[in-house]
Amino acid sequence: MSRSRPKVFVPNQIPEQALRYLQEHCEVDYRDAEEKLSDAELIAGLQDAEGLMIYSRQKIEASILEHAPRLKVISNIAVGYDNLDLAELTKRGIMGTNTPGVLTETTADLAFSILMAAARRIAEADHFVKSGQWEGWKPSLLLGKNVYGSTLGIIGMGRIGEAVARRAKGFDMNILYYNRSRKPDAEAGLGVIYTSMDELLQKSDYVVVLVPLGPSSTRLIGEREFHLMKRDAIFINVSRGATVDEQALIRALQEGRIAGAALDVFEKEPVDKNNPLLQMRNVVTVPHIGSATLETRSKMAEKAARNLVAGLSGQIPVDLINP
Ligand code: DGY
Repeated sequence: MSRSRPKVFVPNQIPEQALRYLQEHCEVDYRDAEEKLSDAELIAGLQDAEGLMIYSRQKIEASILEHAPRLKVISNIAVGYDNLDLAELTKRGIMGTNTPGVLTETTADLAFSILMAAARRIAEADHFVKSGQWEGWKPSLLLGKNVYGSTLGIIGMGRIGEAVARRAKGFDMNILYYNRSRKPDAEAGLGVIYTSMDELLQKSDYVVVLVPLGPSSTRLIGEREFHLMKRDAIFINVSRGATVDEQALIRALQEGRIAGAALDVFEKEPVDKNNPLLQMRNVVTVPHIGSATLETRSKMAEKAARNLVAGLSGQIPVDLINP
């Protein structure tokens, strides 16, 4: 590390321990705020910052970077880094880092919980009871769809995909997966079966998208893919909203070509109040909370802080994303 402590800008609230670690090693301009900063506020904070630690909702493009002449490291407190213009970072000699691993199980928990919520109509049932509509047991009240023994299709068999598969195994599900490359270890260890994307869509009762967002995965699931799915299938997205053509999803649901959806992510976040998805009883929505537990958010922030300090100390951060 340089003799004087490097200046870092942390524009949003982070857990205590990560902040303390940063303060031990750096001069920290810390804003204890939940709200996202405007670009103008971000630029003001970046005037003399060498390091920046942000959440993935903060987009960093050339228009920001050109006002950050001293910036050396951007540490994303997220595994996804589609908010960073990596080519631009690399061109300017800025390191980018992310936080893989520590949020895997927590995000898989969320994926599985919204899958189950959609299958067993939990949100609808909760509203039904609390709004006083429950007048007695009825044979066909809120009938859902079995999870155990059904077929799960996982699109994107990375760390989180495998963690979802482990949960699905406990429910005796048949697990199909589609990935850019085959995963022999997962096939041997978890009994997951590799298929083409089309076969996965045609055979699955539940389809879960877990691919990182990039040029090749933008709108990976669209009109054609929804047409291939079973009419009683449920679609789950816990990756990024833009991996799916949201208008095509809305049409598939409106026309009854699929049975329901469970969504943690949307094309535009926060989602527009008049988005038709919010009016559909067969769609479970949660506000991008895949990694949102106290323990995991602390681990993510600590990992991000270590990456930032490592990069500023002249080391190669463990989670460098633009080597
Ligand atoms: C991630 O880590 O990518 C989560 O989606 C939080 O942004």
